[in-house]
Amino acid sequence: MAEARIGLIGLGTMGAALALNIAEKGFPVAVWNRTAQVTRDFAANAGDLAPQVIPTESLAGLVAAIRPPRAIILMVPAGDAVDQQIAALTPLLGPDDLIIDAGNANFHDTDRRAAAVGGARFLGMGVSGGEEGARHGPAIMGGGARADWDSVAEVREAIAARAEDGTPCAAWMGEGGAGHFVKTVHNGIEYADMQMIAEVYGLMRDGMGMGAAAIGDVFARWDQGVLRSFLIGISATVARTIDPESGAPLLDVIVDAAGQKGTGRWTAVEAQHLAAPVPVIEAAVMARNVSARREERAAGLVRFGAGPQPLTLAEGDLEQALIAGKILCYAQGFAMIRAAGGQFGWALDLPGIARVWRAGCIIRSDMLNDMARALAQDADRNLILAPLFAARIEAALPALRRVVTAGIAAGHALPALVAGLGWFDLMRTARGTANMTQGQRDFFGMHGFDRLDGRDLHHGPWAGAR
Ligand SMILES: NC(=O)c1ccc[n+]([C@@H]2O[C@H](COP(=O)([O-])OP(=O)(O)OC[C@H]3O[C@@H](n4cnc5c(N)ncnc54)[C@H](OP(=O)(O)O)[C@@H]3O)[C@@H](O)[C@H]2O)c1
Repeated sequence: MAEARIGLIGLGTMGAALALNIAEKGFPVAVWNRTAQVTRDFAANAGDLAPQVIPTESLAGLVAAIRPPRAIILMVPAGDAVDQQIAALTPLLGPDDLIIDAGNANFHDTDRRAAAVGGARFLGMGVSGGEEGARHGPAIMGGGARADWDSVAEVREAIAARAEDGTPCAAWMGEGGAGHFVKTVHNGIEYADMQMIAEVYGLMRDGMGMGAAAIGDVFARWDQGVLRSFLIGISATVARTIDPESGAPLLDVIVDAAGQKGTGRWTAVEAQHLAAPVPVIEAAVMARNVSARREERAAGLVRFGAGPQPLTLAEGDLEQALIAGKILCYAQGFAMIRAAGGQFGWALDLPGIARVWRAGCIIRSDMLNDMARALAQDADRNLILAPLFAARIEAALPALRRVVTAGIAAGHALPALVAGLGWFDLMRTARGTANMTQGQRDFFGMHGFDRLDGRDLHHGPWAGAR
């Protein structure tokens, strides 16, 4: 008997949590997982929510369990797994049934799938907040046909996180891959935020000789101020946690090689295509890639010696450096989203995106409230020029410069903070240095240049110089 309001495929970390969230909000949910035992275990462990969970052991069984028109969420790894599931599902579905890819898809794939799914409808939906968010309220970024987004409004709004003012953190971003695009940039910003926190952690650990617990206390203090955010809060907890095996601070036993599933890289690649500079995000992706090269880094230390040297920095300077870095990185992310709107024809609502990110997602922070207000005043203005953020940058910039210059001088690797500062200095340089680049390009390739004096000669007298 068809009794489920919605179906879900993929009972991994995110899918299981999302299914329980849906069930808890009163919507019967039919579930299917590639490995059937996972489905059985999930249903057996659903506790009070078991009556709302309908386990199925075939795709046909899943489809039969859902009331038409059906909506089925895919929560499987990006790439081939999504294509395989769509191919297996579509012959079982009707033209009004809806497949919702809620994983972290590359938005180009979502565009392709939206155009290619025959015999059913398709939404690409970015879901942020990790396991905890999926279970108790994620931020949701939707893309596809507006009517399809609206058809799941009651479920979506019930399961989404709520901002302090009670608004559900779920919004339609635009047609096709718009939702997955915004989710991708969200993840790029997440990479950058995490990298800058890690760099400041490194300055305290390697430069100032602080232990993990003391560093955790610093993060906890910052979590009471302008930097108040999920990532600063969990950094405090991570730094203060003791490893139950060894009794040492947990941070001191974790291998310094970071993983990634691709969203940061997609952001960096797409930013290059859009000619939208996101150097802090690019630096963060680069730092994760370098972190994985442990043997090469060890060889580098053997050959070049030294490593980061002791230094003294004020706690307030480190806090201000992070504040400045965070504003610069978000300004880059929002500018990239603005550029994509123009390129792909999406009417992306920048203040609306800032509002969706206020709760439920990994980059949620108090500062996003101010960013939403600043973008609502003028969505086309770069965030660094919004009066509140311009004033904050002015106040924090001297500290960012002190931290970066002292850190660099003492041999600390600060790629994300340096990238933020480099971009900022370019952004307030009216007379730049690209005249030299243009002269070089004209010399070797006759590319021509524009003149400041407006005269008509657009090539240099290079013939005699070659
Ligand atoms: N983890 C996070 O914090 C997070 C946050 C936001 C978004 N996401 C995204 O959410 C999606 C799911 O992530 P996750 O962390 O939940 O992954 P996960 O724990 O590794 O679970 C993956 C699920 O997909 C199934 N699966 C794998 N390959 C499949 C295939 N070829 N066909 C059918 N099913 C397949 C697995 O089934 P079996 O049991 O049979 O292996 C499992 O149920 C990904 O796109 C991820 O990027 C994750």
